[in-house]
This record gives sequence, structure tokens and C-alpha cells, in this order.
Amino acid sequence: MDTQTHEQTARERIASAADEAELRAIEREYTGKGGVVAELLAAIPTLPPTERKAAGQGANALKQAVNAALEARRAELDEARLAVELAATDFDATVPARSLAPGSLHPITQAARRLEEIFSSMGYHVLDGPEVELDHYNFEALNIPKDHPARDMQDTFFVATDAVAGDGRLVMRTHTSPVQVRAMERLEPPFRAIAPGRVFRQETTDATHEHTFHQMEGLVVGEGISVAHLIGTMKTFLREVFERDLDVRLRPGYFPFVEPGFELDARCPFCESGCRVCKGTRWIELCPCGLVHPNVLRAGGIDPERYSGFAFGLGLSRLVMLRYGLDDIRHLMGADVRFLEQF
Ligand code: PHE
Repeated sequence: MDTQTHEQTARERIASAADEAELRAIEREYTGKGGVVAELLAAIPTLPPTERKAAGQGANALKQAVNAALEARRAELDEARLAVELAATDFDATVPARSLAPGSLHPITQAARRLEEIFSSMGYHVLDGPEVELDHYNFEALNIPKDHPARDMQDTFFVATDAVAGDGRLVMRTHTSPVQVRAMERLEPPFRAIAPGRVFRQETTDATHEHTFHQMEGLVVGEGISVAHLIGTMKTFLREVFERDLDVRLRPGYFPFVEPGFELDARCPFCESGCRVCKGTRWIELCPCGLVHPNVLRAGGIDPERYSGFAFGLGLSRLVMLRYGLDDIRHLMGADVRFLEQF
């Protein structure tokens, strides 16, 4: 039988083989030890020299053809087996996949992350503080004594006190400023830190107030820290957020833990001549800030004779509202997916 005929026969047998066992038998018969190909090769030395080359090529071609046919038939059998398996279940490979709804970060989370990026790049630590806070850190150490009228600036949720010994009253923190003192206790000046987080106040929720909202505290302590550093920092931060230089101005503001204390305004990033966002004033209120009061430094174990610092308290909801021109703060915590999907 010549190799052509061998090949023809092998192809036919392989194509009609019913299963893997049959294929393996054919494989052995042709390409195995003592198989057809081996015999053809073994016979070469007995051939006249002029025929040897062609005989060798023929044997190799047969081997290749058999292997290719085996591979093709195996793939066919696999597919057929899969089809049978699928037919036995109600799995339908043609049904379109359910689309993934990956969700997204809440705009306030996005803002906090962006601010963390900006301030980290300026060498700030990103700190965390407890949401249920000791009266000491929330008020006392911030230069707001027990019966001081300044306590009325922030209506507070007190937490049932039984669990806490002595004078350690617990409050839902009304601002992120308590992290200032916690930072001073742990960090060696000079240092810079921000502390984003949730804060709580006893408020009637309306278009501009919520009982739960987000702030980001900033604190820098070092030798010779002045209002100039504060202004420079805020301008840098504004440039990062609004991608352009914006002038700022300071107005006096009262907070017991800063002296002097300010309200910092920035030029309206949206207009040249007055708009809805800046209410026609061309200035937007950005955040309260000031130089850290010596009593606060002292409470944090830092010598006010040697060190000074500045602090600011950014309202994250406010920033997000400004950035996207929102007019009702309640959207932000409303959990309405149609609103949130827009960010
Ligand atoms: N903690 C103040 C508030 O929530 C804001 C503030 C922070 C003011 C830092 C001055 C310095 O109202």
C-alpha cells in the first residue's frame, strides 16, 4: 500500500471514529511503535537509493496528516459532547448577559479623595478620628469651656453618659476639629494634617442643613507659621480644585479655637460679574479658618511660645454643591440613585 492510500484510509477511519478510545487505537496503529509510519521508515534502507528521499518524505507527510486529522476529529467530538451536555440543561448560551451595574463613589467621597490627593501631595498626613467623641476633644480642649456661650454655636447630640466614668461625656462630634488636638498629642511638630470625616449636629434638615454632614479639617503646626502660610495654602488648594488661580479674602470670624479667626472667601469661579452661585457678590464663602489658639496648642501638649499653626474647616457638602451647582443639600444624603448616577 503506498503512503497516499494509507493516508486516505486513515482519514476515513478517523473521520468516522466514534470516541476517544477508537481514535487512540488508530493513533497507535499509524504513529505508534511498530506502526505504519515506523514500518515505512524502517523499510527505507532496503530501497534503491534514488527512492529513499521520496519514501522518507512520504512517511513524514503521512504522520503529519494523521496527527492533523486526529486533532480535528477530537475537537469535533468535544463540541458534540458539549452540545449534548447543554441540551440536557436549561442553560442557554444565547441569552444576552445581564449587564453589570458597577456603581460609583458618592460625590462627597469623590471630593474627599480628591482633597486627600491634593493635600497629600503637599505633605499632609491624612488622619481619622472617632465619630463618637469625648466632650474634652470636641469642646473643652478646643477652648470651649462647659458653660461658654460658644457651645451654642453647635447644637449637639449627647450620647447617654452612664458608660463613661467621671466627666468624660460623649458627644457625636459636631466638627472635625477634635482631630486637631488628637493630632497634636501624637505628632511631633512641625507637621501638616488633614482629617476628613462625618460630623453631626442637632439640626432641622432643610435645603441648607443636615444633621449628618462631612467636613475636612486642616492643621499645620510649626515654627513661625502665619496667616501668610494659610492664604498660600488655600490658594494652592483652590488652584487644584478649580484649575485656575482664584483670589481670596479674609473676613473676621469667631471660633474659640482660633485667634485670629476668619471666614475665607474665594473669587467666584463661575462668573465675572455676579451669578446665582455667588448671589451676585462675586465672592463665595469657602471655609472658616484661623491661627490655632495658644490654649489649643497647650491642650495638645505643644508649646505656644515656640510653635504656631493654622487650621481650617472645609465643608465637603458645600464644596460639592459649589462644584456642581447644586441648590439643595438634601440630594447629597437622599440616596436617590437617579441623582447619584450623574456623578
Ligand atoms: N470646626 C469649625 C466648624 O465646624 C470650623 C473651623 C475649623 C473653624 C478650623 C476654624 C478652624 O464650624
